[in-house]
Amino acid sequence: MDSEGCVGQAGIQQPTKLHLHETGRDTLMGRLMRRFWQPVALARDVEKGKAHALRIMGEDLTLYRGESGAPYIVGGRCAHRCTVLHTGVVRGEEISCMYHGWRYDGEGLCTDIPAENRPRPDPVRIAAYPAREYAGLIFAYMGGGHPPAFDLPRKHEFESGERMLFAKREYWDCNWFQQVENSLDAVHLSFAHLWGVAGQFGASISAGGEIPKLEYAETSSGLRQIATRSNGNVRISDWTFPNNNHIVVPGPTKQSSWGHVSVWAVPIDDARTMRFRIYATEPVDEATAERIRGDLDFEPTEHAQALFSGDLSGLSDQSIISAQDYVAVRGQGAICDRAQENLSSSDAGIIMLRKVFLRELTAIAQSAQPKTWSRLENAIDLPPPPAPTGVG
Ligand code: FES
Ligand SMILES: [Fe+2]
Repeated sequence: MDSEGCVGQAGIQQPTKLHLHETGRDTLMGRLMRRFWQPVALARDVEKGKAHALRIMGEDLTLYRGESGAPYIVGGRCAHRCTVLHTGVVRGEEISCMYHGWRYDGEGLCTDIPAENRPRPDPVRIAAYPAREYAGLIFAYMGGGHPPAFDLPRKHEFESGERMLFAKREYWDCNWFQQVENSLDAVHLSFAHLWGVAGQFGASISAGGEIPKLEYAETSSGLRQIATRSNGNVRISDWTFPNNNHIVVPGPTKQSSWGHVSVWAVPIDDARTMRFRIYATEPVDEATAERIRGDLDFEPTEHAQALFSGDLSGLSDQSIISAQDYVAVRGQGAICDRAQENLSSSDAGIIMLRKVFLRELTAIAQSAQPKTWSRLENAIDLPPPPAPTGVG
């Protein structure tokens, strides 16, 4: 996908071809994306003293947790003879390769070469990236130099202490940018989220398939989307640059107030994405919490055959949302060919999103300063729908 044909009727002149979907280290989008903290793993999956393989934006990495509990992210392969490092042994805050014992600290510096009998003139290094934990997720900063303040991922709803948090990860077998675009497409709620089965989310928001009036505005952190349907049904979402959305979704029971979800579409590579989601709900008892954890285990990719046959039977309300989005977005192809699109006025959010990305990529291409995004100064309470119908 390049700039030709991807902005549609609102096309803007571009000095170079700007590929939107590619995030390899040497691509323009890869350079842009690496300016932001990205979630890369569920914190609960990484035990003290254990290492795991990761692939993020086409880079193979090793994530391990030192014996202090601190997470570290270093390169995927040993500098000696290139075996994978996640099979290594964690000792203290360092990791030793299983092949010949070369040892690395959390900054990627090789601190020991056990079988070497002469000093090396230069230190050996592998890649290393800052890591930190937040709301049940481990984040990495994969750019160069000092990382930005850990600001954009934070939400008041995750820090107030008034809600229970549940973190989830899904693997989707398609490009991340399609999923980002889906976040700026409020009209799909009136169709995709009534498709197959009307879960509480679709039934409550879509007002029986009514087409909303759309408003979009650029904010300090991204784009605000307002979709207004009749009878005071106003849905507001705050999308944060470059790949995070903040929305409200049904609570764990029909009596619950609506919860908050923050979801990131993180590229594994060009054709695969990890979706990380933090779900913040009013406090629930342990049995309900256990049910939520079970619901969050749903992986739409594993059910692709049934879902593409239109079979959404037996899914929880939360899983129905993922399943419907998955069918719509994966249905565009592993990497959507946007040259085949015909955008319409209802795609105003997608057109605005692409313009913002193209502006930022142009800045990167011209070695100019892209926008400095910051957490919303004017954060508002996202309103739930006025009268959930309780379907589902
Ligand atoms: S390949 Fe890692 S120590 Fe030899
Ligand atoms: Fe959706």
